[in-house]
Amino acid sequence: MKCWNKEGLSMPAVILGCMRLKQLSVHEAELLIQSALELGIHYFDHADIYGGGICESIFSEAIGMKPSVREKIILQGKCGIHNGGYDFSKEHIVNAVDGSLKRLRTEYLDVLLLHRPDTLMEPEEVAEAFDSLSEQGKVRYFGVSNFNAGQISFLQDALSQRLLINQLQFGLAHTPLIDSGMSVNMKLDQSVSRTEGTLEYCRKNGITIQAWSPFRQSYANVPFIDDMEHYAELNQNLLELAKEYGISPSALAVAWILRHPANMQVILGTTKPNRLREEAAGADVTLSREQWYRLYKAAGNRIP
Ligand SMILES: NC(=O)c1ccc[n+]([C@@H]2O[C@H](COP(=O)([O-])OP(=O)(O)OC[C@H]3O[C@@H](n4cnc5c(N)ncnc54)[C@H](OP(=O)(O)O)[C@@H]3O)[C@@H](O)[C@H]2O)c1
Repeated sequence: MKCWNKEGLSMPAVILGCMRLKQLSVHEAELLIQSALELGIHYFDHADIYGGGICESIFSEAIGMKPSVREKIILQGKCGIHNGGYDFSKEHIVNAVDGSLKRLRTEYLDVLLLHRPDTLMEPEEVAEAFDSLSEQGKVRYFGVSNFNAGQISFLQDALSQRLLINQLQFGLAHTPLIDSGMSVNMKLDQSVSRTEGTLEYCRKNGITIQAWSPFRQSYANVPFIDDMEHYAELNQNLLELAKEYGISPSALAVAWILRHPANMQVILGTTKPNRLREEAAGADVTLSREQWYRLYKAAGNRIP
C-alpha cells in the first residue's frame, strides 16, 4: 500500500472507514479488520457518533485491543456533532474524546478531527481543548472535517497545533471540490463554488484531504457503481478502462481519486473483506491525464 509520512504520522493512500461496523458481528468485523491489515491499511477512521459509539466498541473488541496491537495502528476519531447540532465547546470536545478512548480501549487517539463546522465555535475554546488533550497525551495530531478554506484558516490562527487533515466527500459521483475551479467565471451550474478554493488552500498549506464516501452519489446512500440508470456512461467507461488495468471498476474509481496531485487519502466504507481487497487494488494504478478527464466527463461533467 502506497504510504507517506507527514510530521511523523504514517498515512496510507487508503483508510478503512468504521461507520458501518455496527452492521457486523464482532467476528465479521475481525475478518474485515484483519483483511485491512494484510493489505497494509493500518489507518482506521472513527467518530463518536457512528452507531452511537457502538462502532468504536465493536472495533476494539474485534481487533483485540492491547498495547502490542495499538502501536501498529493509526486511530482517527471525530467529534463535534451533538444533540441535533454541533458543539465545539471545550467541555464537549474533551468529554467526547474521553468517551471514544474508553470505547476504543486505548489511552490516545493518533488523530482527532472536528466532524462538521460549528458556526457557534469560539476558536480560543477549541484551542484550550486541543492544548489540554495534547498535554495529557490523549491526542497526537489534529484536523477538521467538512471545513472550507476560510473556516480552517480562522481556526488555525487560534491553535498552537497545526491542522493536518480535512475530511471531505469526494468521488466520481460527487465532485464539487473541483467543479467550479474548472469553469471559473462561467454561467454554468458547475461554476457555482460550493467549497471556495478549499482544495487549493489545503494543498498550499500541506493539509491532506481524506475523501469520504468515495462511491456514494452525492448525499444519497447508494453507490454509483453498477447504477446503469443514472451512471451508464460512467460505468461503461470504468468497465473498459478497468479491463485494461486488470482491476475492478471500483478499484479504478479509487485510482481516479488518488491520481489527483493533492495526494488525498481514500476512506473505504465497505463491510466486506473481498470488496475491500478489490477496491484497495486501485492504489497501485496511476491513470493518465486523458483517462482521468475521460472519467470526469463520463460522470456527467462538462469541460468548458
Ligand atoms: N466526515 C464525514 O462527514 C463523513 C461522512 C460519511 C462517511 N465518513 C467516513 O467515510 C467512510 C466511508 O463512507 P461510506 O461507507 O459512505 O463509503 P463508500 O465506500 O463510498 O460506501 C460504502 C457503502 O457502499 C456499498 N458499496 C460499495 N461498493 C459497492 C458496490 N460495488 N456494490 C454495492 N454496494 C457497494 C457498501 O456495501 P458493502 O458494505 O456491502 O460493501 C457500503 O454500504 C465512513 O466509514 C466514515 O469513516 C465521513
